Amino acid sequence: MVDKAKIVCKNIWKIFGDNPSRILSNLDQSLSRSEIQENTGHVVAVKDVSFSIQKGETFVVMGLSGSGKSTLVRCLSRLIEPTAGEILIDEANIINISSNELTQMRRHKMSMVFQHFGLFPHRKVIENISYGLEIRGSNRSERMDRAMEVLKLVGLDGWENNYPRELSGGMQQRVGLARALAVDPEILIFDEPFSALDPLIRREMQDELLNIQKLVKKTMVFITHDFLEAIKMGDHIAIMKDGEISQIGTPEEIVANPADQYVKDFTEDVPKYKVLSAGKVMREAVGVNTKKLFKDRQHCVLESDKIDQLIDLISETDTPVPVTSANGKKLVGEIDRTIVMKAMSSRS
Ligand SMILES: Nc1ncnc2c1ncn2[C@@H]1O[C@H](COP(=O)(O)OP(=O)(O)OP(=O)(O)O)[C@@H](O)[C@H]1O
Ligand SMILES: [Mg+2]
Repeated sequence: MVDKAKIVCKNIWKIFGDNPSRILSNLDQSLSRSEIQENTGHVVAVKDVSFSIQKGETFVVMGLSGSGKSTLVRCLSRLIEPTAGEILIDEANIINISSNELTQMRRHKMSMVFQHFGLFPHRKVIENISYGLEIRGSNRSERMDRAMEVLKLVGLDGWENNYPRELSGGMQQRVGLARALAVDPEILIFDEPFSALDPLIRREMQDELLNIQKLVKKTMVFITHDFLEAIKMGDHIAIMKDGEISQIGTPEEIVANPADQYVKDFTEDVPKYKVLSAGKVMREAVGVNTKKLFKDRQHCVLESDKIDQLIDLISETDTPVPVTSANGKKLVGEIDRTIVMKAMSSRS
């Protein structure tokens, strides 16, 4: 891979209880999490998890309640100390750094956005947003300028002098987002940021965050228990179950090839035609007519085109159409109405 990983986790374990190291060194790997809890009174919250996150991507951690999402993500900033494993940020292992270095890292490299906003009730919106800059020691005019800049970015212009209680939930979370962005961190961590919001506001916030991400291009780690939110927000998704990762992949990889029944159950409600691309569902063996269309560069679609984008073309074309490589130069397969309809059916 050309890009360097921003965050790498290697074999992370987190066991809660009186003597986690002893439990880890004597662990019987064949026992389930609940058996270990019954036998030892310890909870294996994160079990041997490894992954890497590229700079500028949104990495989603998805799973049911209790699967270990918050514990895992808190290990990234050592808000929770992992029982074992390595965490590399910009290739440096942060497990053994001093508490002073850790404070610097949290102040300058990372910001968090929480489910229940975590705003200071007695501070005005603008003072909430500028809080991280205040701790860093920036002067007042610098803080206010920057806070106003991010306030505009999250669409809260005019609300700077209000108190959090005067704002709706969605607006309060915009303040949470602005506060996290104000310090211009390299890494943004979101722990179920939109779960407390109404569905429509939630969708609005997701769209807003996607737009903001296009501008700021931060490395984002985003926790959710909602698979539709995961596929909308994530460049990659890690699906967790009982402290372990069941599967890591792009939304399309996961929807096209769920690793096990647990993952498959999440994918059942997904409108597959919005996630799958022509290249995933096409037929590789092409007919003579398709070859001719390709030669004449007629009705060609790219293998990366989502089915969703092809519906108009396919519904108006009786014969299969050519599917080409991303640069349009190579014929890689063909796609027709039947394939598209099957991809649109929830059973596919
Ligand atoms: N401080 C703690 N002490 C003991 N057990 C804990 C502690 N924190 C979490 N756990 C346990 O670790 C497991 C994973 O919890 P975690 O909060 O990481 O799950 P989660 O996936 O974030 O769940 P949710 O979606 O409900 O937020 C759970 O069984 C939980 O009870
Ligand atoms: Mg959680």
